[in-house]
Amino acid sequence: MRVIIKKNYEECSKWAASHIAERVNREASEAAPFVLGLPTGSTPLGAYGELCRMFKTGSLSFKNVITFNMDEYVGLKADDEQSYHHFMEENLFSHIDIDRENIHILDGMAENLEEECANYEKGIKAAGGIKLFLGGVGSDGHIAFNEPGTSLVSRTHKAFLTKETIQANARFFDGKENAVPRYALTVGVATITDAEEVLIIATGRAKARAVQAGVEGDVTHSCALSVLQMHKNAIIVCDEDAAEELKMKTINYFNQMEEAMRD
Ligand code: GLP
Repeated sequence: MRVIIKKNYEECSKWAASHIAERVNREASEAAPFVLGLPTGSTPLGAYGELCRMFKTGSLSFKNVITFNMDEYVGLKADDEQSYHHFMEENLFSHIDIDRENIHILDGMAENLEEECANYEKGIKAAGGIKLFLGGVGSDGHIAFNEPGTSLVSRTHKAFLTKETIQANARFFDGKENAVPRYALTVGVATITDAEEVLIIATGRAKARAVQAGVEGDVTHSCALSVLQMHKNAIIVCDEDAAEELKMKTINYFNQMEEAMRD
């Protein structure tokens, strides 16, 4: 796992957006569209803003991009203001030139949720697999809605949200924990690790514990982030606050001190 530490949120967002744009510009074509996995949450907002800016200034097009979102709440309609459908529309899709038919988001209102999940996996496969999965991370190390205890070989499924996640996400529901849906549909851990590349953004002090456990702890289903230690092409870009508890950072610091003393 490659760990990139940037000064702040803005720098992390810019780095992530430039990395995505570089790959899309280099690889996307009509014959072979670029398949991009996308997250919701407050973390990717800066990167989405940057991608929209690049589109507006003409340095990036989404014409040959296919997207698959990570997750959606069960029981919220697509036009519900708290749904991830609505979030994506507001923060990315309505500002760029993506073909509507190239957008894929799980339907949390589907009559048969199991079938919905199975079809989502088939859809990803039919598109040729995900080239780059962008993600955020929960304060307990979850990715998408793969809460602690989710199998590391899980596929798209219906997930039960933990109390910690419900509390964290209540801010999007006027602070009302009771209004947060208890279930969500989510890509599985293996759906994410199947991607050619996984790029996680983690910012803020609240993510420091998850970053430390995910980067330096054991590979365990108690922290989905940790499975990326086994991925051939995983990057975590974090700001100084989120990197605060990394021991590795302290080692780097002492190495630098030693070098400085030698000079
Ligand atoms: C939710 C989402 C995750 C996201 C996490 C962190 O649980 N399902 O995909 O990474 O929240 O959100 P935030 O970026 O707002 O901290």
